[in-house]
Amino acid sequence: MNVEQLEARLEQLSEEAVALLAQAGEREEAIQVKNRYLGRSGSVAELMGVLRELPNEHKRQAGQASNRCKKAIEGAFENTMASLAQQELERRMREETVDVTLPGRVTSIHLGHPLRQVENELIDIFSDLGFEVAEGPEIETDFFNFEALNFPPDHPARDMQDTFKLTDDRLLRTHTSPVQVRTMHAYDVPIRIISPGRVYRCDSDITHSPVFHQVEGLLIDRDVSFADLKGTLTAFAERCFGPGTNIRLRPSYFPFTEPSAEVDIECMFCSGDGCRVCSHTGWLEVLGAGMVDPNVFAASGIDADEYTGFAFGLGVERIAMLKQGVSDIRRFFENDLRFLEQF
Ligand code: DAH
Repeated sequence: MNVEQLEARLEQLSEEAVALLAQAGEREEAIQVKNRYLGRSGSVAELMGVLRELPNEHKRQAGQASNRCKKAIEGAFENTMASLAQQELERRMREETVDVTLPGRVTSIHLGHPLRQVENELIDIFSDLGFEVAEGPEIETDFFNFEALNFPPDHPARDMQDTFKLTDDRLLRTHTSPVQVRTMHAYDVPIRIISPGRVYRCDSDITHSPVFHQVEGLLIDRDVSFADLKGTLTAFAERCFGPGTNIRLRPSYFPFTEPSAEVDIECMFCSGDGCRVCSHTGWLEVLGAGMVDPNVFAASGIDADEYTGFAFGLGVERIAMLKQGVSDIRRFFENDLRFLEQF
């Protein structure tokens, strides 16, 4: 074969290949055509086997002809692939259109567990009054849970709290009051904290759960009086249960406060007239409070002659039950969606 014949044959191959590529209906087919002509043992490579037999002065011409042929086939291949991709895209756009008139799927959006909602609301209320959030461990020592809060060993007040003991010294905290002590140890006065968190008591019925939540409050400064406590709790009651909600304080006993009070709020179901919820008293007991006992200051190295303070503690479940009209505390812990979805 001479160089002119070779050139003519290459020309023919490229025309054939370009024509086949133009007809290819699928990418796989185009790739096969390309390989058949340009592959390692494709028609073009096979034809170029004759290069060795050509006289040297024709080799360059033959090489150029081969390059033209390859370029033509590659160009046609690229065009075919691009137009097949475009067709595929158009097909998908046609077939995969979204029917925007179809009704949407119903997803449920929740604002969190009802207890979390109430806890967040309590945190908001006290934050606005200037209290900062402090936290502590749920596994506590006897010292922080009892002793530093003026519960001496063997004192009958310890029986007020049905404690889950872990070891002689360790227990599941029965209230969030130990965070008071931890805060007094860690920070200087003045102190103004609330401490929300989980607490544990060996007790279970329609109004008691072995795990429940409290928010503890503590304020220490110079000249803090019982009137400041009452003012703070009145502000809290109005924000939490509505403007004009009255509170009343009844004398009580807690080891860590002196004097101590049980705080009632006016029943929001009967506006104080008396109903089933408030046992016809017109009042609902919602928290405990008092002036920090000097013994508690002493255990934390605060000078009781210079500083005074008040503390209060409230149960989140109790507030949630009143605000949300839930009559059995256990509902909060059953994870029944039919209950939870109502909030
Ligand atoms: N720690 C108490 C309890 O769990 C609640 C309480 C009462 C906390 C009076 C206080 C307080 O800070 O002053 O029963």
